[in-house]
Amino acid sequence: MPAYAVIGAQWGDEGKGKIIDFLAEKAAIIARYSGGNNAGHTVINDAGTFKLHLVPSGICWPHTMNVIGNGVVVDPEVLLKEIGENNLDPSRLAVSDRAHLIMPYHVVLDRLEEAKRGDAAIGTTGRGVGPAYVDKVARQGLRVGELLDPEELALRLPEIVAFKNEIITKIYGGNPVDIEDIIALTKKWATELAEYIRPVENLVADALDNGENVIVEGAQGALLDLDHGTYPYVTSSNPTVGGTLTGLGMGPRSYGGVAGVFKAYCTRVGAGPFPTEIHGAEGDRIREMAGEFGVTTGRARRIGWFDGVAAKYSARVNGFDGLIVTRLDTLDGWDEIKICVAYELDGKRTDQFPIDAARLERAKPIYESVPGWTESTRSITKPSQINDGAKAYLNKLEEVIGVPIKIVSTGPHRDETLVIEDLIG
Ligand code: IMP
Repeated sequence: MPAYAVIGAQWGDEGKGKIIDFLAEKAAIIARYSGGNNAGHTVINDAGTFKLHLVPSGICWPHTMNVIGNGVVVDPEVLLKEIGENNLDPSRLAVSDRAHLIMPYHVVLDRLEEAKRGDAAIGTTGRGVGPAYVDKVARQGLRVGELLDPEELALRLPEIVAFKNEIITKIYGGNPVDIEDIIALTKKWATELAEYIRPVENLVADALDNGENVIVEGAQGALLDLDHGTYPYVTSSNPTVGGTLTGLGMGPRSYGGVAGVFKAYCTRVGAGPFPTEIHGAEGDRIREMAGEFGVTTGRARRIGWFDGVAAKYSARVNGFDGLIVTRLDTLDGWDEIKICVAYELDGKRTDQFPIDAARLERAKPIYESVPGWTESTRSITKPSQINDGAKAYLNKLEEVIGVPIKIVSTGPHRDETLVIEDLIG
């Protein structure tokens, strides 16, 4: 049995954690491939509510192995906290020896760089993710596997930290980080994480060879992708499907399916163009009703109507063969629901998603509306329970994106899930 990717199709926060927890019943391995603890995945099931930033969302099923691939950047403090909170042992969790470390100076630099950008700030989560990826690409990064040789690391760190402190103090006027503290931290991480550090790509390959299912867990979303997103208002990794291959060391033929997770409307955290943004009372109403506040930073999420132009683009760059729509119940009770089907850009109608931020900023949404519905969709689990209004809305989404909807989420609990067609064989 193959791998199945579950990928955020908008600007993150689509509800991937809940869906992965639901699907994980049928999987042997759940694998994260990109991002870091900028992600915040909420899982709610009979065992409780779990807010996860690094650990994959399959941990509530005792039969699963959860792995953090080489494409992820890992803050060991955060990982150790999540291991402790969830009582995970090395038989349930592994982290790739090739994943890069988020060091304390990355967190300091992330915040200083944002402050320096002023009005042009990206609105990062401030978790050091961008600076850690910068070091990876600049070939100056430290990898998780290097923790296993603390003596060698202690020899290398003074030069690295001295260089970072030059930047922190001279360019940004910040306070230097302390080398002794960092050496002590890496020794602690080495001791506490050693048993979890593994060549994760072998675990994934072995599972696939043995005919087991692997769920590849997205973080962030396609429109935050470093290459395909709304650059420069993006994250520093590749949440799109290509990132799964490099971020886990697997081949494309492993895939049995690539599913895109969409909210029934749109949200975005941080700065950047957002053509269908709803300003004022209407947006506030959805935000309050749906609790649209970031799991990682607590920031209020920006709210918008469903953007069909962006959705179609996202489906194309990921090759989605199935859609998962979340938060349908949030739209219960609305008079009419708008869907953006095209943009007006510089006086012309287009259904192409402009990839540079300045043009996207100028794009004006062209909407079609469907009538709202009064019946509740909350907690429904069978296709026969979908009311006609909600059905018409889902049909419209399928028509606009051109990909079938396979799962609909009708509430935050694992059981509040409606399967139209099985995603995993
Ligand atoms: P960074 O990933 O912390 O560098 O932040 C870059 C951009 O991505 C900012 O706009 C963040 O708000 C956004 N971002 C990063 N991670 C997430 C996420 O998990 N959900 C939603 N937005 C995110």
